[in-house]
Order: sequence, then structure tokens, then C-alpha cells
Amino acid sequence: MRINLIVKKNWTGKVLVAFMFDGDKTPLAIPGDEGKTLAAVAAGEKFTGQFRKTSLLRCEAGESKVIVTGLGKRAEFEPDRVRSATARALKRAEEIGAESVGLLVPDNKDVRGDLSEFAAAAVEGAILGEYRFEKYKTPKSDEPKAVAELVLVFMNPKNLSAAMHRAVGDSAARAEAVCFARDLANEPPSPKPPEKMAEIALGLAKKGRIAVKVMHKAELEKLGMGGILRVGAGSHQPPCLVHLTYTPSGKSKKTVVVIGKGITFDSGGLSIKPSQGMETMKDDMAGAGSVLGLFKWLGSVDVPVTVHGLAPFAENMPGGGAQKPGDVIRHYNGKTAEVISTDAEGRHLLADCLAYGSTLKPGLMIDVATLTGACVVALGDEYSALLGTDERMINRLISVGKQQGEFFWQLPLPDRYRSHLKSNVADMKHIGKPGVAGTITAGLFLKEFVGEGVPWVHIDIAGPSFTKEGWDYAPAGATGVPLRTIAVLLKGL
Ligand code: BES
Ligand code: ZN
Ligand code: ZN
Repeated sequence: MRINLIVKKNWTGKVLVAFMFDGDKTPLAIPGDEGKTLAAVAAGEKFTGQFRKTSLLRCEAGESKVIVTGLGKRAEFEPDRVRSATARALKRAEEIGAESVGLLVPDNKDVRGDLSEFAAAAVEGAILGEYRFEKYKTPKSDEPKAVAELVLVFMNPKNLSAAMHRAVGDSAARAEAVCFARDLANEPPSPKPPEKMAEIALGLAKKGRIAVKVMHKAELEKLGMGGILRVGAGSHQPPCLVHLTYTPSGKSKKTVVVIGKGITFDSGGLSIKPSQGMETMKDDMAGAGSVLGLFKWLGSVDVPVTVHGLAPFAENMPGGGAQKPGDVIRHYNGKTAEVISTDAEGRHLLADCLAYGSTLKPGLMIDVATLTGACVVALGDEYSALLGTDERMINRLISVGKQQGEFFWQLPLPDRYRSHLKSNVADMKHIGKPGVAGTITAGLFLKEFVGEGVPWVHIDIAGPSFTKEGWDYAPAGATGVPLRTIAVLLKGL
């Protein structure tokens, strides 16, 4: 989507979006009699600025149109409502065939918080809400086309500052990175085997200060990455590990390692999954997808931290060489685990990477994974679980996530449950007791591979990585959660 910023007097478009709080007399940035008239006409159709509702008004004999989009009651306002309200408005604009839409940016005094954040959120809502995955669809002429251009229209020229341009540009880059991550996870499983994902990752080195290294099977064997190798052994498609590095232009304040589970298809392996719903397991690489997305964004910004991205890719299949229940896997740090279910495969990839990531001496290590069905049972499909040893970062992720419309909830990581992983043949079993705290015992398993003293947070995105029905600014399919939260967190370090 093209994004432009202009002052009101230069705007010549035909469709204009205005926000409105429920209970206000006029839409934001349309004061006086003009605003009152618009509000009165909208009220005739029961629109008073309710959140998630829009009203389409024709002005001057149908020449130009105004879409008023509701933010709800002022007292209930949250910044994320701007994303939803913008996405709703653009859906309405699509229906009337608008290719270019103007969006009236209110004045500072009309909104709580920073105006550039308001504008940035609107841009995100627009880009993310208009996203679609249509690569495999034959275009139909009667289907609404995505809006191609969003023009931010400023009433007050003073608000069109350099800082505003920066904030909008950065949020657009973040949203485009999310679209890239969504594309990766929405892609069908067969066209995206591990080697293909590695090829895509290599392409990210073209921009900015990013280096990409791919470790193939032979090198993984040399390194002793038994987790990645054994999980990938049941497929004709060999596994690999992608290591991306971002170096800041100036002095680095911190080293951060971000790891993402990259199972390009999870059939369950020999512990095969029920066929119903198995098609959604193409998104079992969403964690790795968000790591690649993060580097796409890092290619266009300057943040004062060194970032290592680790994306282990494998296809979990039940082929002749597949790992078997009862097998013992030896990981990168030498620790062994007894395999009970080959469907609990993601933790083995993460185990290798957490141990390897620890050798990079990070001040923060985050892993992101569609790890447990238990997480969906516990938190549903809109909350990701947070577990780990860095309480400060956990709290930070929760609060940044809330601003970003990506929701997190902390689960405990109690030593008392460590006994659930006791094995008679290896250092540990890889899963706990059936039906008992599956997300927590997965976290306890991962903790065994985190180096001494490394601050670590595990994010289980099994619920929010994918939406069946879609929500305000995420159409059905991959969502790209939690890319934006991690990006904003990195920026603020
Ligand atoms: N990829 C799945 C987890 C998952 C389930 C993600 C549903 C998204 C939606 C993971 O590899 C898995 O199968 N986990 C098993 C672990 C169990 C065997 C201990 C699960 O959760 O059922
Ligand atoms: Zn699985
Ligand atoms: Zn999986």
C-alpha cells in the first residue's frame, strides 16, 4: 500500500475517512456545522461513533464521500482501537471501489497520547487490514480490490513534522514485515520446504546491515544438533538452520537472540496427528516466519542492538528414517531427551537453538513457537503465553503487546513440575504427564537448554499465530503475531 502525508488544502481525493468518538457532537477534525450535519445524518442510521461501526455519507450530490468510523466511548479508548477502526473504514471503502482513501488525522488535543502514535496505528490498521493472500486464486472481477493508497490528511500543517514522517514510515515498515511473515505462514506446505525457507532468508541479506548463514545437514551433524536432525529425519526434505545477524550502525547496547520454531509442516511424524485440521499445520513455522519478518524490518531501520535470529527449519514427517517414540535425542549442549511422542517435535529444534544461542552471550534471548495445543486450551486464540526467567522483559512484552494489539499472559515455570520430565533412559523425557500443564512442562524442558545466567523468555503462539475466522485487521489465516511487539521492544531497548 502506498502511504502519503499531505495538508488538507492539497487533498483532491474522493473518499475521506474520519474518526468519531461515541458521544461526540462531530467527527474528529470536522468541527462546526459541517461536522454536526454529518453526525446528524449518520445518527439517522443509528451511527453515533460506536466502536467497530462505520457510516458512509455522500456529500455534494454523491461527488465525494465520507466514511465515519467509530472509536467507541472516550473513556474506553485504547490505541489499538485506531487500528481496528481504520481497517473497518477501509473495508467500507473497498466496497465502494475506492482505490485511494484519505484519512483525516485529528489534532493533538483531540486524542490522548502522542499524535504520531495515533497516525502510525492508523497506517498499521490499513496495511494489515487490507492484507490478503491471493497467490493461488484466480482473480474475479466482482470481488472488491484492496485499497492501493492511503493519504494521511492533516488539518494542522504543524503536525506534519519530520517526527511524524518517521513514525509513519517505521510503522509502515513494521506492518509490511508482518505481511511478509503472514505470506510465509499462509504458503502451502509443499512449496516451502526447509531449503526454500533458507533461500528466502538469504534474500534478506540484500538490505541494511544483515548477514545470513545457512547451516545444512552436514554442518548440523558436525555441530551435534541432534534435535533439528532427528526431527527432520522422516522427510525427504533435509532440515537446516538459518542464522541471521543484524549489526547496528553505531555502538551496540545489547545482544539479543530471537529464535523461531520452523516446522514447515507438522504431520506429527509417527505419532501422526488426526487428519482433521492437519492442514493448519503448515503454519507450524510461524515462529521462524516472524523471525524472518523481524529481519525484513531490521533491513530498513537503525536500532542500537545486535540481533541474532535463529530459524531452524524441518518437516515433521513419518518417512522411513523418522525418529520413533522411545528414541533418545542428544542436543547441542549434550543433554539427552527420551522421545515419547514424535508430535512434540518443536521443542527439540528450540533446544538446539537455545543452547547454541546461549554461546552468543546474549543479554536477552527470546524464542517464539507454535508449541503446544495446551496453550490454546489455556489461553484461547488471542493470547500468547509467556514463560521464562526475565521477569522484567515479560512485563515489558505484556505492556508493549497491549499497545500493539498483541496479547500476552504469563504462565509460571515452577521447579516443582520438573519431576514430570523424569526419564529412566535419558536426562529427561521431552513431555510431561498427559493432559497436565503441557505448556508449562514444555517451558521447563526448554529451560534445560538455556545457558547459565542468560535472561530468557519463551513465547507460545499456538493460539494467535493463526485465525480461522479473521479479526479486525487480520483476515483469516496467519496473523504475524508477535512480530510487531518484538520489533517495538527491540526499538525501545
Ligand atoms: N505444532 C503443535 C502444537 C500446536 C497445536 C500448534 C495446535 C497450533 C495449534 C506441536 O508440535 C504439537 O503437536 N504439540 C503436541 C505436544 C504433545 C504431544 C505433548 C500437542 O500440543 O498436542
Ligand atoms: Zn507436533
Ligand atoms: Zn509442531
